[in-house]
Amino acid sequence: MEFQGFAGIFSEANADALVVVVFKGEKANSGPLKDLDKLTGGGIASIFKSEEFKGDKGQTALLRFVPNGKVKARSLMVLGVGEKTEYSMAEVAVASGTATRYLRTRNNKNFAFLPRYEGNAAIAAQAAAQGFVTSQFEMHKYRTKDKKDQSVNRLVVCIDGAKKDELENGLFRGRVIGESMNFARDLANEPPNILTPTEMATRAQKAAKETGLKFEVLDEAKMEKLGMGSLLSVSKGSEQPAKLIVLRYTPSKNTGKKGDLLALVGKGITFDTGGISLKPGEGMDAMKYDMSGGATVIGTMRAIALLKPAVPVLGVVAAVENMPDGRASRPSDVVTASNGKTIEILNTDAEGRLILADAVAYAEKQGATRIVDMATLTGAVIVALGDQNTGIMGNDQQLVDQIISLGKESGEGFWQLPLSKEYSKQIKSDIADIKNIGPRGKAGTIMGAVFIQEFVDKAKWAHLDIAGTAWCDSVKPHQAKGPTGVAIRTLVSLVESAQ
Ligand code: BES
Ligand code: MN
Ligand code: ZN
Repeated sequence: MEFQGFAGIFSEANADALVVVVFKGEKANSGPLKDLDKLTGGGIASIFKSEEFKGDKGQTALLRFVPNGKVKARSLMVLGVGEKTEYSMAEVAVASGTATRYLRTRNNKNFAFLPRYEGNAAIAAQAAAQGFVTSQFEMHKYRTKDKKDQSVNRLVVCIDGAKKDELENGLFRGRVIGESMNFARDLANEPPNILTPTEMATRAQKAAKETGLKFEVLDEAKMEKLGMGSLLSVSKGSEQPAKLIVLRYTPSKNTGKKGDLLALVGKGITFDTGGISLKPGEGMDAMKYDMSGGATVIGTMRAIALLKPAVPVLGVVAAVENMPDGRASRPSDVVTASNGKTIEILNTDAEGRLILADAVAYAEKQGATRIVDMATLTGAVIVALGDQNTGIMGNDQQLVDQIISLGKESGEGFWQLPLSKEYSKQIKSDIADIKNIGPRGKAGTIMGAVFIQEFVDKAKWAHLDIAGTAWCDSVKPHQAKGPTGVAIRTLVSLVESAQ
């Protein structure tokens, strides 16, 4: 893929097609539309007049014209983005992705894009490049035919008056973030016979090597030594050994607060059958994506390694398979986690919190002062928030607020659910310190969070329940159906804002 920035006259950009965004209710002679209307022989005025096109979000029209003199393109795509007042960085990415997928099906290999974002040029270029990259991800990698492999391989982002280095920097950042999202999406999309915990560790190792992260993997013997009885109780029922993947990013110069270390911790259940508390057969196939939190951690660390912020980051992924077997945990088993707490396992299908318990405690032992964990933890969060918002909970309101606000900028919704001592009481066990489920049908997402909270000591902590947002069931104009790579954009911003 090729990315170019262009600060000259849009219609003269070197591409086969031009793409311009149009705000709701705009006139054909407003701003850059005036020239384009002339170029297309009144084409813009005519689609506006015919009421065919009103600039509503996602509306498209394609105008063809004969190239002349300095103009090399032969078509103009007009793309509605809705209200100008609501136009944001996130909308630029959606618009760029929508244009890419639209032109891809029309056998167009490249285009010049006029985002018309009035803020920072680097931000606009970043969003345009990211949308371009993520829009071309498809989930059919194992098909031997019928692949939609026509790809759009060159993007020219046009921003009038922008500086060259602003454009280049933005395009680089957008490409890195987009490719890291696609990397995570590819992991989530892998079938579980291929992406075992061992394979997940191998993929993380490869990404680490390519980008300069420090990689370490703890095997079961090592985890046993560290007393990770909670995590290991989940992997006992599987032929596949568990792996604790540890990725470290160390900046050449640390400008963050002294002693601060942010850790990203992910649930990497490569397949969740439920264990002895077996899930119903219908829909169980979806549980290959139960490692999406782990994929988000690896994808974010990959992006960080390439963007090189001036703060250290620790990534921890608990990669485990949850299977029923003669050695699997039984409901009513009691296990001891690495922080010494005893857990009564009342439902082996509440396994995500069991592996995160030891992973989060490990991150803090490694020096983390802020921890963000992410997991496809509960079906309840899908009932509560659907696929539009990730559930967020935590012990530090400032950290939670920061993630919510950075999410708004990058186009990712986070919605907070409450935690309190009263909720924590509901996971007290009759025979051990805590049990791994709360009362049936009550605040399931919060119960998952208060369980993980038991394994955070002094660190500031936020928990992201991405069960609803990590997978999208339908195709969108800017995005294939399937894994979404959720939270990577927001987490990259979180890391960078600590610089
Ligand atoms: N991986 C699931 C959560 C999940 C369920 C994600 C459906 C996406 C769709 C998790 O391990 C799980 O099984 N959670 C249980 C917890 C319950 C037993 C307390 C759930 O949500 O039903
Ligand atoms: Mn489960
Ligand atoms: Zn699970």
